[in-house]
Amino acid sequence: MKKPATKIEFPFRPQNRRALFLGILIFQAAVLVAGEFLVDAWIRTEFTLSQVAADRLFVFRISIAFSVFTLTGLILFLASRRYRDALEQTNESLNKEVARQVKAGLAKRNALIFGLAKLADYRDTDTGAHLERIGFYARIIADALSEKYPEINARWIDRIVLASSLHDIGKVGIADSILLKPGRLSPEERTEMEKHALIGADTLLAIRSKLGPDEFIDMGIEIALGHHEKWDGTGYPFGIKGQDIALSARIVALADFYDAVTSKRVYKDAMSHEEASELIQSLRNTHFDPDVADAFFANQSKFNTIRAHNQECAQDSPYKFNTVEHAARQFIKDQAQRQAA
Ligand SMILES: [Fe+2]
Ligand SMILES: [Fe+2]
Repeated sequence: MKKPATKIEFPFRPQNRRALFLGILIFQAAVLVAGEFLVDAWIRTEFTLSQVAADRLFVFRISIAFSVFTLTGLILFLASRRYRDALEQTNESLNKEVARQVKAGLAKRNALIFGLAKLADYRDTDTGAHLERIGFYARIIADALSEKYPEINARWIDRIVLASSLHDIGKVGIADSILLKPGRLSPEERTEMEKHALIGADTLLAIRSKLGPDEFIDMGIEIALGHHEKWDGTGYPFGIKGQDIALSARIVALADFYDAVTSKRVYKDAMSHEEASELIQSLRNTHFDPDVADAFFANQSKFNTIRAHNQECAQDSPYKFNTVEHAARQFIKDQAQRQAA
């Protein structure tokens, strides 16, 4: 068995550097005084000097020695302070640089993850903005629940806003004939469709096995796996119920549901906010966690504003290929300008 490493303890631990500095100075002064007394005794025995001359010589030597000692101490003190300040400044700028690089790395990772989630989402939604809206809705609910649930803080909320985009990534593994079928699904097709929760979780678990534990990926797994579970245990894939379903998944379940019913699809019209609200009320305590549903009811106007804005945008500038083409042309133009500059 491997022997655990022994921690080495230093025999003397100064409370702070000032105490150590003062200790060294006192020790030096004591050595200096003792040395001067020895030299004084040697001079008095070896040379024939009057008592007054020997005393004056002693005082003179002591004064010179203490002046040099004080000056040296002062210079040392100032030099160490300057060194400490320079060290603190270097540390501060290093910390800032590390924080900046971590932030930039995280922003890149988040943008890539969102891009990949969006790629999966294009397969079955019309507007391409479904994921952004789910993020908005999840933030509103999480904000409202933060007083009751201590685990919800600002970082948790930022995490759910992005992790909510991963809820349906498993749909990439579902055949078009089922995913894009306009009519009702047969029981077999429904079983196949329901696999998307497990496929999504499996994809993220594969990332986790390479990356190791990560709060964001862990939340993504919770959401992919649990966003079709229901509070009363009648959901899928496992039929778990109540608080056994992750809080993040309970929140995204409602956000996704609200957005799905209030959005137009090729096979259905969009519900009004009032209709969606009534439906959610009827599903409170069965499909939805009552706390999550209550957070929705307490913030209905915010949901309705986002929904209405979405529908206006969809009417003004429907998501069409020429919009993409325009954005792509603009990117090429900007890129050429950047390279010319
Ligand atoms: Fe789903
Ligand atoms: Fe969705």
